[in-house]
Amino acid sequence: NLQVDVAKTVTKIQPTMYGVFFEDINFAADGGLYAEMIKNRSFEFLFPMMGWNEPKSDRHKLNTQSGIANVIQYSQKGTNHNYCRVTINDAYGYELINEGFRGMGIKKDLKYNLSLKASKISGNISKIKFQFIDKDNKVLGETSIVPISKDWSNYTGQLTSSATEAKAKLKITFEGNGVIDLDNISLFPEDTWAGRKNGLRKDLVQLLYDLKPGFLRFPGGCIVEGRTLAERYQWKKSVGNVEDRETAVNRWNMEFAHRPAPDYFQSFGLGFFEYFQLSEDIGASPLPILSCGMACQFNTGQLVPMDQLDPYVQDALDLIEFANGGSETAWGKVRADMGHPKPFNLKFIGVGNEQWGPDYIERFKVFQKAIKAKYPNITIVSGTGPFPDGDFYDYGMTELKKLNAEIVDEHYYKDPAWFRKNVTRYDNYDRKGPKIFAGEYAAQSVAIASPNNKNNWECAFSEAAFMTGMERNAEVVQLTSYAPLLAHVEGWQWTPDMIWFNNLQSYGTPNYYVQKLFSNNKGTDLINITLDGKAVTGQNDLFASAVKDMNSKEVILKIINAAASDQNVAIDLKGAQLDTKGMAVVLKGEGLNDENSFATPTKISPKESEFKLKGNQIQYNFLAYSVTVLKIKMK
Ligand code: AHR
Repeated sequence: NLQVDVAKTVTKIQPTMYGVFFEDINFAADGGLYAEMIKNRSFEFLFPMMGWNEPKSDRHKLNTQSGIANVIQYSQKGTNHNYCRVTINDAYGYELINEGFRGMGIKKDLKYNLSLKASKISGNISKIKFQFIDKDNKVLGETSIVPISKDWSNYTGQLTSSATEAKAKLKITFEGNGVIDLDNISLFPEDTWAGRKNGLRKDLVQLLYDLKPGFLRFPGGCIVEGRTLAERYQWKKSVGNVEDRETAVNRWNMEFAHRPAPDYFQSFGLGFFEYFQLSEDIGASPLPILSCGMACQFNTGQLVPMDQLDPYVQDALDLIEFANGGSETAWGKVRADMGHPKPFNLKFIGVGNEQWGPDYIERFKVFQKAIKAKYPNITIVSGTGPFPDGDFYDYGMTELKKLNAEIVDEHYYKDPAWFRKNVTRYDNYDRKGPKIFAGEYAAQSVAIASPNNKNNWECAFSEAAFMTGMERNAEVVQLTSYAPLLAHVEGWQWTPDMIWFNNLQSYGTPNYYVQKLFSNNKGTDLINITLDGKAVTGQNDLFASAVKDMNSKEVILKIINAAASDQNVAIDLKGAQLDTKGMAVVLKGEGLNDENSFATPTKISPKESEFKLKGNQIQYNFLAYSVTVLKIKMK
């Protein structure tokens, strides 16, 4: 029998207990959450015509019969360096095609908003037509503009798609002849999240919203650090006018030889303002992580000299002002001018991602001193390196304890058995030391960063088993997040991932539904669930944690049966008057290797049913390899 002591609160569950980790890896931002459909919209990629094709001309023969598009660099100093000059020679009708991010997903009858800048240089280009085309060149919607001015001018149009197509492209046809300059050619669906113009992909935000996440960590991950210091994520370059945000090479551009993505760049259309706004939209506490002056230690490991660390520290201080300062402050004004006069209520800031050793501690100290001096109420998240059992962990923890670090970010990418075995990881963890942010974790079915990892059921329920251990230790584990979050099925660099998408659809993996079950049922107070007086940590392959929710007046039990057969278990609940029936939510795959897919997106997803109590006892049959949440109302 399991025993549950409902009356006694062990500790409070933090509202931030279950959150989400966002990184622009796997086309998560450009080509994913950020709904822009034009790849390389302002010709800023390393090869400035990447993503653009000229079907009627031959790139190797300049000035072929119909025309040519060339990129011209017009500013070394500014942030938008290039534009495209199109020369049309005659009435053959010159065409330029944008291929989108692995194609463009368009939906029947949906409207798409086009915008661009153009400047008429010479001749008479009378009209520019924009058409969705499918692979057979069939037109699926169109609009056109009439260029009028020699000055750079803004033009807009709207296309309505006549069909649903996952691999559409945008064809641009020029009528007349002459020379015209183009820049910032942009196309967004009208049905973005919250109807925000040029905003985020609705289906993906909805999946995040449904998790009811306690926090949103951004923008990574390794992307924070960069391969070199120069390539680190610099938040100040990601705010203000979208057109002025300087495109950068994505840190995941060529990371793995088996998944090269030479066309992976960051437009920063999804920048820090948008991350804060997204946090607010999905009810999550924002948790930005900034560079600590160390480039990724798995790449160049470049270090900023200590006497040149100031700008990095200033970035952190200014970010807090950007998020929380009044509109009379310099950075608060930038936020207000972007349309959010109210502060974003930032409470946490992370210093460095997966950095370790004396170099990190030395730099962390400087950040800590400066942040605490100016913003004593901001909680700082620090790191000890990538793996909790790595060589640097003990050193980092020892030093961070000496510094009274508040929260330490731990990452685990391990095999599923590790997750089940390590469920007691925090049982004897120093209650007086720093709190824990399990900032990145995911069970790896093959090996870390293997391209063959699967989001299979064994990985998902093993993570659930581990999560009961984190929940039982909510006194120290206060933030947790699965990683990575999003992956484009044709643009990924890392598996497994919590949510997969293509240009039209998205689905949550079994791991997503585990996260959702825990987050939606996190409760407010931890209570004890025991077996013979001990925590349930794998005896008979059972794992359990229990909470009560003082708002919904419910007792909530999370029980994982990791055994290959059903287990019929009696559960005694004491210390509360309970309803005579409860709700069971069961998550279960058909086998260890079962997965969700685009064809069967909710194959492994929660199923609800009622169960009866006898007095204060539940007799319940926990299915083989299952995650079960039992909810009972308190009277
Ligand atoms: O989640 C993928 C990567 O794994 C992250 O960028 C990094 O922090 C970790 O090593």
